[in-house]
Amino acid sequence: MQVRVLLPLGLLLASFSYGLNAAVAAPSVEASDEAVPEAVIKYYKKTLMSFTKTLQGELKGAIESGGPTNAISVCHSSAPKIAEEASQAENMHLSRVSLKNRNPNNEVVAGSWQESVLQQFEQRKAAGEDPMQIDYAATQVINGVETYAYMKAIPTPDLCLTCHGADVKPEVQAKLSELYPEDKAVGYAVGDLRGAFLIMQAKEVALKKVETAQ
Ligand code: HEC
Repeated sequence: MQVRVLLPLGLLLASFSYGLNAAVAAPSVEASDEAVPEAVIKYYKKTLMSFTKTLQGELKGAIESGGPTNAISVCHSSAPKIAEEASQAENMHLSRVSLKNRNPNNEVVAGSWQESVLQQFEQRKAAGEDPMQIDYAATQVINGVETYAYMKAIPTPDLCLTCHGADVKPEVQAKLSELYPEDKAVGYAVGDLRGAFLIMQAKEVALKKVETAQ
């Protein structure tokens, strides 16, 4: 069965540059029964751990040196840059998505498979699954190219509430509203799912990466 979905523009462009699809129009996404190998999932988890470490390192450093308002500017410019650098280094698309996004590029399109995975994550958390372990992996055929799609839930620890909580300080809120007039990413509590990491990579590229790493 062929399901046509509209991917977010950022993903579309990234897919384009990573050779996942050559069409600029909405790509065709077909589900495949083929499981994603354990070694690939391990490689994705490792890539995300290093991405998170870099990002949280910058965030903590910026908060310590200039407070949360300063850290917003750092996050504003660094988060997309760090994701882009990791994407290029690994020859994949790596980003963060959310049902209640701050950066418009991190929005999931209504009716897309990413949206349904985020909704499943919420149900799995509600059913008692450990948010740190919630993930999803599938093989998809995107415009004829076999592609691994991986998502991993991002829980909300205490550190995040300064900028994503229910009680954001007025000066922090002012800076957020200035940079993100359409911000939906506030009102979170500890333990909520803030969103998910998204990785998409051509199967052929992934298998080569895993093979050369061994
Ligand atoms: C200093 C303020 C600040 C703190 C603290 C903070 N964030 Fe953010 N967060 C931001 C900003 C600014 C963005 C938008 C970045 C961009 O433009 O890509 C963002 C974006 C995100 C996104 C991408 C989805 C979206 O909404 O656009 C996720 C996921 C996220 N943050 C999770 C977290 C988590 C988890 C923590 C705690 C470990 C955290 N944030 C702490 C400011 C912050």
